[in-house]
Amino acid sequence: MNFLLLNGSLSRTSHSAALLNSMQVKITQAGHSVYHHNFIEWPLPFYNPDLAKNGYGKQFQLFLDKLHAADGIAIATPLYHGSLTGVLKNALDYLPPSILKNKPIALANIGGSVRAGQSACEHLRTILRALSGQVIHMQVGCCSDDFTNRNGNISLSEQTIIDRTDNMTTELISVTGKFQQPVG
Ligand SMILES: Cc1cc2nc3c(=O)[nH]c(=O)nc-3n(C[C@H](O)[C@H](O)[C@H](O)COP(=O)(O)O)c2cc1C
Repeated sequence: MNFLLLNGSLSRTSHSAALLNSMQVKITQAGHSVYHHNFIEWPLPFYNPDLAKNGYGKQFQLFLDKLHAADGIAIATPLYHGSLTGVLKNALDYLPPSILKNKPIALANIGGSVRAGQSACEHLRTILRALSGQVIHMQVGCCSDDFTNRNGNISLSEQTIIDRTDNMTTELISVTGKFQQPVG
């Protein structure tokens, strides 16, 4: 199966990217392929419906192709003022309403404070429902203290969050597999 990872952060030392990297390891170990899409390398301008006449350009086309190719998706975003980042919301604004139909999606949000909560995950659930996505039950809410930074190399280090992320990844793979089975 093919999995797409999306990061709401543009930081080159992103905690959200580190969490997605740990999901990538587990998905790859289970024998599946992973594409980690990068809005730093493939930035999308502010969505403007007037651009539709001439097409949205190759940056968007690549994003769309990767979404079409994905059987399952994982999204991690920093909390910005209690919600997902503008970068991520802008990317989702480009999408037609049924694009995520039958695509299981796992969510994580990363805040700066231990009491950050999971409001970006909850907001994403509402947005992804409008895009016909199948958001799985498990989600991860964590904060930058759950990571270790060794010379700019960031990785998850809090064991409860490592375990929860692993369990969420297992659920994502399992639910995605069920959507690949023929109905009946
Ligand atoms: C504009 C802005 C708003 C933020 N708002 C919150 C917030 O509401 N709650 C919180 O816990 N952290 C907040 N933070 C901190 C980030 O969520 C935190 O640094 C996160 O780890 C960044 O993720 P990244 O390393 O993947 O970019 C905010 C940071 C920025 C830049």
